[in-house]
Amino acid sequence: CVEMAMVCLNDFEEYAKQHLSKATGDYYDAGADDCCTREDNLLAYKRIRLRPRILRDVSINDTRTSVLGMEISFPVGIAPTGFHCLAWHEGELATARATEAVNTCYIASTYSTCSVEEIAAAAPNGYRWFQLYLYRDRKLSEQIVRRVEALGYKALVLTVDVPYTGKRRNDIRNQFKLPPHLKVKNFEGMFQEQAGSQEEYGIPANTLDPSISWKDVCWLQSLSRLPIIIKGILTKEDAELAVEHGVQGIIVSNHGGRQLDGGPATIDCLPEIVDAVQGRVEVYMDGGIHTGNDVLKAIALGAKCVFIGRPAIWGLAYKGEEGVREILQILHDEFRLCMALSGCRNVAEINRNLIQFSRL
Ligand code: FNR
Repeated sequence: CVEMAMVCLNDFEEYAKQHLSKATGDYYDAGADDCCTREDNLLAYKRIRLRPRILRDVSINDTRTSVLGMEISFPVGIAPTGFHCLAWHEGELATARATEAVNTCYIASTYSTCSVEEIAAAAPNGYRWFQLYLYRDRKLSEQIVRRVEALGYKALVLTVDVPYTGKRRNDIRNQFKLPPHLKVKNFEGMFQEQAGSQEEYGIPANTLDPSISWKDVCWLQSLSRLPIIIKGILTKEDAELAVEHGVQGIIVSNHGGRQLDGGPATIDCLPEIVDAVQGRVEVYMDGGIHTGNDVLKAIALGAKCVFIGRPAIWGLAYKGEEGVREILQILHDEFRLCMALSGCRNVAEINRNLIQFSRL
């Protein structure tokens, strides 16, 4: 039996589609409603054309960059996604080890199927941020913040685009829920478990607080000295508010098209946000990154780093830690190659001159 050659990220997507159960595959794949935004996240990169420079001695290409002052090997990290144990038995432990090996940033999800302690122990030298939601019961949020602080997670990523969960049709049709042997490990025993109560994705329903507002960002700042990054900003107005509230970073994100359908592709709103922020905080983005070429375009439009959601899960589904490493290696190689082909010797040389705006 000849092993399939895995050449690009789409090969891993295909593999995952064939090997995961239907309900699990549908959960990872899901977008909200008609999935317009999920699709547009991908298509928007294809509309952008580059303006390559030539004869610039690209014999050496340096892909390193930094996020919040920490050097990483190239500007791609792992976005927070839930339930890695559904894709691979070691779950988030494999993801953590892969990102440690590759020397990039892993944003661990609140909805991990391994605890923040287990993740930290699996990759003790890994560079990690923690993604958090705010719960109606703020004590739960406070407790998890204390734990990740003590464990050496380096930033809090506050996800702000889920006052309610988006409507993902296949998850409803499949009545998707975590199988009984898996748990949202970070909260084991912490929620008041009421017999027969409604669950949403393995957590009792109605635990997320839809009333959260900017004053809760201030509350989080009063709680912790860790840098705060707001994930889920799509407009210059909110970017300005984020800067005014003293956060350290912004992730331009539409949650992979899983929340509001009909919102913009993330790469399309990146420029207005970068312009509004004027370098006062770092701007990152996620959504639809499938090639090194996509990464180059995002960096050219002002992102300091991009994050991949679903592709990391495809890597896990393929071969656990090794699969995630392969995904990151392919993106790294592709990024290095198109940097060179467009005449960029290091990440600092990637700028807006690379983008053909007349076509947009
Ligand atoms: C997510 N995302 C997400 N975001 C977050 O802040 N907390 C979470 O727990 C999750 N969980 C989650 C599960 C799955 C299966 C997906 C696909 C996505 C959103 C994620 O961080 C990111 O914004 C998108 O996945 C980026 O888009 P791509 O790379 O998947 O196209």
